[in-house]
Amino acid sequence: AFRPLVDPFGRGITYLRVSVTDRCDFRCVYCMSENMTFLPKRDLLTLEELDRICSVFVSNGVRKLRITGGEPLVRRDIMSLFRSLSRHLDSGALDELTLTTNGSQLSRYAEELAACGVRRINVSIDTLDPEKFHRITRWGDLAKVQEGLDAAQRAGLKIKINTVALKGVNEDEIATLLTWAHGRGMDLTLIEVMPLGEIDGQRIDQFLPLSLVRAQLAQRFSLEEIDERTGGPARYVRVAETGGKLGFITPMTHNFCESCNRVRLTCTGQLFMCLGQEDAADLRGPARASSDDAMLRQAIAEAISRKPKGHDFVIDRRHARPAMARHMSLTGG
Ligand code: GTP
Ligand code: 5AD
Ligand code: SF4
Repeated sequence: AFRPLVDPFGRGITYLRVSVTDRCDFRCVYCMSENMTFLPKRDLLTLEELDRICSVFVSNGVRKLRITGGEPLVRRDIMSLFRSLSRHLDSGALDELTLTTNGSQLSRYAEELAACGVRRINVSIDTLDPEKFHRITRWGDLAKVQEGLDAAQRAGLKIKINTVALKGVNEDEIATLLTWAHGRGMDLTLIEVMPLGEIDGQRIDQFLPLSLVRAQLAQRFSLEEIDERTGGPARYVRVAETGGKLGFITPMTHNFCESCNRVRLTCTGQLFMCLGQEDAADLRGPARASSDDAMLRQAIAEAISRKPKGHDFVIDRRHARPAMARHMSLTGG
């Protein structure tokens, strides 16, 4: 029973982001605290259950699936999920199957991902300085990630680099990251840090408005506005000097919620209708209650019917606590 998913504000939901694990082999300082408590493994949906829920979304008009985490490639046997979901690419039901990764496991998985029909991946890199990379990710090894990028390009995957712009940390390096990424044929997207989950430091000290970064870049590069959308929240410009694309994700300074087309499934089967709101619907219950998809379909329709208008993140210097207790790694950004 095909029923397109449309929310109360008339927005069609065609993009599902799926966090397959809340665990990660890094501990980025703006994302996690040093000591994290992760979900007990017994609460996780199986890969078969994840596949089933994704497939119900696809049969209801979702055209784009992004696998996220935590770090999706640390989940055991994750390739079996990609292999299985790729049938929707073959049938034409899905336009894109993709993932967001920290790149640590890419050298191992790049070829298999390409074989599953993945064409484009997003890799998070906030600095090109190995020592600083280690400081930001706490546990990460830049050389390993760079091997992963090489492997991904050899496998024919298109890469978009995601960089969280951090005041006093990598703001002096943005132009370098830009020339590096574009020089290798990769796009670059900059992200404003969002107040999600307890970290050990203060995000307010790290917050850097992208309007500032853009003004600085505009002194060195010609940025031409382009109207291209990938279905995500980024606004893109073309950099004349490099020929590459540069994206800006600005939840804090420029709200993009009115064109929101996405919802998020967590590894325990919670469906979040907005990254910046607490409300979630349980899909694990209905999935386990019956092998027929009717209950699941009903639960999804009910959830979409209460999708909120948007997030209400604010930059508030008086309140040190994060706006949202939940970490980005639970909902996969
Ligand atoms: P493409 O456009 O397909 O490349 O994907 P994307 O930019 O949506 O995906 P990616 O996983 O690279 O996300 C980049 C950043 O955008 C992440 O930090 C997400 O948290 C953020 N983001 C994605 N969707 C939303 C959203 O609906 N609201 C907010 N506030 N941030 C979002
Ligand atoms: N604010 C903004 N971006 C974040 N990411 C992780 N935590 C945050 C946060 N609090 C980024 C990662 C990755 C993407 C999925 O989300 O760096 O690029
Ligand atoms: Fe892991 Fe990504 Fe969070 Fe870094 S930002 S700790 S790589 S989930």
